[in-house]
Amino acid sequence: TPKIAVFASGSGSNFQAIYDAMKAGDLTGSIALVVTDKPNAFVVERASIAGIETLAIKPANYPSKEAYEHVILQKLSELQVEWIILAGYMRLIGDVLLEAYPNRIINIHPSLLPSFPGKDAIGQAMAHGVKVTGVTVHYVDAGMDTGPILAQAAVTVVDGDREKTEARIHEVEHELYTKTLNQLFSL
Ligand code: GAR
Repeated sequence: TPKIAVFASGSGSNFQAIYDAMKAGDLTGSIALVVTDKPNAFVVERASIAGIETLAIKPANYPSKEAYEHVILQKLSELQVEWIILAGYMRLIGDVLLEAYPNRIINIHPSLLPSFPGKDAIGQAMAHGVKVTGVTVHYVDAGMDTGPILAQAAVTVVDGDREKTEARIHEVEHELYTKTLNQLFSL
């Protein structure tokens, strides 16, 4: 069963959903490492409670993205990580990791891509006044939320209510991510 690393920059609710699904036996595989660029992010606390090793390093402390990613890659190699799963990791993946993990890096994004890539996709969708938005799981390439799409699910916007819309999107994310990863890992 595959060994994965989860990359996150924020709350880590998607990390939690993946971890819980694996623990419950609903998702094959195990999480060997959490990687974060934000040492104060709540995901660090979640990982610690789950007993999962965390690599928390700030890109600003390295001379280049390449140098930063080399440190990550070293750790991933040590732990024999096979898949990189992005879960709210808010930076572009560079050539070092893309070349080391071809077709083995997956992302989730809170919109129906190619609509509303980048930051605050939910805010962008609300501001645009769309009635339906959703969630996309896709392979990662060098672009911002680009790369071949694996799965999508639609979410109806709750009129003018960002909080309710966001809560529903997160629920759908947790379901869609575990389901899609299970299919991918079972191939
Ligand atoms: C999720 O909604 C995820 O789709 C989004 O960040 C949130 C992280 O939440 N990712 C992106 O916007 C990537 N461009 P979480 O920390 O609770 O999992």
